[in-house]
Amino acid sequence: MADQQAPSGPDLSKGVAPSEFTGQMLLGHVGDQDVLLVRAGADIFAIDAHCSHYHGPLADGVVADGGIRCPWHHACFDLRTGEATRAPALSPLSVWKVEQEGGRIFVRQKKDEPAAKKAPADAPRRIVIVGGGAAGFAAAEMLRRDGYGGEITMLSDDQAPPVDRPNLSKDYLAGSAPEEWVPLRSDDYYPESKIDLRLSTGVASIDAKANQVLLADGKSLPYDRLLLATGAEPVKLPIPGADQPHVHTLRSLADSRAIIANAKNAKRAIVIGASFIGLEAAASLRARDIEVHVVAPEQRPMERILGPDMGDFVRALHEEHGVIFHLGDTVAAIDGRKATLKSGGTLEADLVVVGVGVRPRLILAEQAGLKMDRGVSVNQYLETSVSGIFAAGDIARWPDAHSGDSIRVEHWVVAERQGQAAARNMIGLREVFDAVPFFWSQHYDVPINYVGHAEKWDEIAIDGDIRGRDCVLRYKAKGRVLAVASIYRDVDSLKAELAMEKAMA
Ligand SMILES: Cc1cc2nc3c(=O)[nH]c(=O)nc-3n(C[C@H](O)[C@H](O)[C@H](O)COP(=O)(O)OP(=O)(O)OC[C@H]3O[C@@H](n4cnc5c(N)ncnc54)[C@H](O)[C@@H]3O)c2cc1C
Ligand code: FES
Repeated sequence: MADQQAPSGPDLSKGVAPSEFTGQMLLGHVGDQDVLLVRAGADIFAIDAHCSHYHGPLADGVVADGGIRCPWHHACFDLRTGEATRAPALSPLSVWKVEQEGGRIFVRQKKDEPAAKKAPADAPRRIVIVGGGAAGFAAAEMLRRDGYGGEITMLSDDQAPPVDRPNLSKDYLAGSAPEEWVPLRSDDYYPESKIDLRLSTGVASIDAKANQVLLADGKSLPYDRLLLATGAEPVKLPIPGADQPHVHTLRSLADSRAIIANAKNAKRAIVIGASFIGLEAAASLRARDIEVHVVAPEQRPMERILGPDMGDFVRALHEEHGVIFHLGDTVAAIDGRKATLKSGGTLEADLVVVGVGVRPRLILAEQAGLKMDRGVSVNQYLETSVSGIFAAGDIARWPDAHSGDSIRVEHWVVAERQGQAAARNMIGLREVFDAVPFFWSQHYDVPINYVGHAEKWDEIAIDGDIRGRDCVLRYKAKGRVLAVASIYRDVDSLKAELAMEKAMA
């Protein structure tokens, strides 16, 4: 996703006068590289201007606590080192030398990369990660970033290496992102980083007493620390005809590829379920000019998570793009191209996507005897009830310092950040996981960002105009803001995240 545009702002290598840099940030360039000057306290920093995740414009972000946060999906970069300190960005940015001469500020060259970190000397020798998704990958990557030199084995029953799963229902499915963008890292990364990634490798069980993982092929693997990051699987519809080849669920790269292959010859599609994934898939299929019918039991899409006004907006947005909703209804049976609705009507479709939610993959944890509570119970260090076994991502229920509840969420950024925190804790760094939950969803050109966690609320305060795509919704209980959803109010969303963090501190 390289920036093809002309470099921005003043040429920083020629210097800028203090009168040109009066605010907190100034976007300029050095050669053809966009560079951002940032004032933080008494210091001035210069850093690459675009986020290493999806190239978000950091000039539109927020500076806080020695870092700069990306407006799009809330990654954070250390202004001194360029390190991506908060997912979803994983790769660092370059930081540049700032020199003041004759009253002008010059940026001419990059700083050297920071010295490699060293893991604690008593870090365990063998770490096994079950899961090659968001949490598993982020953990392995963080272990190496933190200088861990022991063995890392990552086991995944997927055929594909870790992928950017959110893309599978968005640009990749819509045909606007090539497949090269989907893997989180190139194939070379794993051997080069000495991460023993074993694909198509199912884990059958865990022997927590013997500290061993038992593989589906009968082999066993010892560990000193174990991370369970088995994620979730799509709920299958228990209706006649759901097992036909043109009926798909969407979790893996293989699933997304199968939908794309089917979409090439499809004229009409049914999406069952008005979930985030279902509606993102609907938008992507519309981008492929396929007629899309969404069938879902609720009266308003996403009302349970975003409330009635945002639900109405999401519906209207999809209708503007030609999606036809059949709400308050379900599909009772699929017979070839004919789907029969519970209400009695029928729909024709040569492609069906079922997006009716996911179920966390808990079987390994249950069989290992770990404490369960509608997920795998973990403490604030993401350690399970068995010492040395950690859990992260969609399966983990953790004590959320912000809401005061034990919560389990299914968000990409949370899974990655938990993987990173678990990695540090597996090598003895004792890092409390206290990130405020964040997710985003994209429908056509409309991104919805959400920070915090609100299962119930007694008031939604709307600031701005939802239909005008310029709004912040605050979900409150007894006057306290539990969560904030926003459209094109990125700074407000970042500030809400910071306020929630400070409220916990
Ligand atoms: C299409 C799609 C789009 C999404 N979009 C967004 C979004 O826009 N924003 C957002 O916040 N969230 C999004 N999500 C949710 C997000 O992707 C998940 O919350 C996140 O992937 C969870 O990470 P995880 O590591 O817990 O699980 P996963 O990423 O699912 O990884 C689990 C891994 O465990 C492996 N595994 C499971 N059991 C075993 C076993 N027994 N043996 C070996 N391997 C095993 C699996 O093969 C997989 O590699 C999306 C999800 C999907 C499917
Ligand atoms: S583009 Fe910066 S966090 Fe996604």
